[in-house]
Amino acid sequence: SSESAESVISRLSATVSDYPKPGIVFRDLTPVFADGPALRTIVHALIDPFEGQFDAVAGIEARGFLLAAAGAYASGKGVVTVRKKGKLPRKVYSEDYTLEYGTATLELHADDLKPGMRVLILDDVLATGGTLGAACRLFERAGVQVSGFGVVLELTGLRGRAALAGHRIRSLVRE
Ligand code: PRP
Ligand code: ADE
Repeated sequence: SSESAESVISRLSATVSDYPKPGIVFRDLTPVFADGPALRTIVHALIDPFEGQFDAVAGIEARGFLLAAAGAYASGKGVVTVRKKGKLPRKVYSEDYTLEYGTATLELHADDLKPGMRVLILDDVLATGGTLGAACRLFERAGVQVSGFGVVLELTGLRGRAALAGHRIRSLVRE
């Protein structure tokens, strides 16, 4: 398809003020995911720059799951779930974190990937970087190498990139 990732994101994404809390300007990408050609465009824009550099794709619950499953399928790799606390049934690593509008805990099955494997981590929005930073720590505890991060939208004013220093970050739109 010919329309750029940047173009489909600006044309289809929505903005909601004061959600989920007063003062938050929420960026809603669900209309981008709901459009077939747009979904294909953004998934390829996220994974193609990392071709040959990852053995699996990880997604962060919940919106990151959509991108990770699509990206894993498109690249012939497996998908790994980084989940909110209490959802994974076997031995996990846990990391607490702060995000733009709260605090939470993420977990990863300790043996979903073998030590030395390389993972590409996908999510929809990079805001403060708290979420992706916690995901990164989980994989490092499991001995897994983080090849980089791919996000659809980076909210640059929240300085998430600084929180992820030392890793490659591909963001399709920065605002
Ligand atoms: C949102 C978003 C990112 C995170 C980014 O997830 O999908 O994962 O916040 O914020 P940060 O850079 O400040 O950490 P949320 O926790 O709202 O979860 P959801 O996908 O389940 O709605
Ligand atoms: N995650 C953290 N901050 C966000 C925002 N402003 N919009 C959408 N997702 C977010």
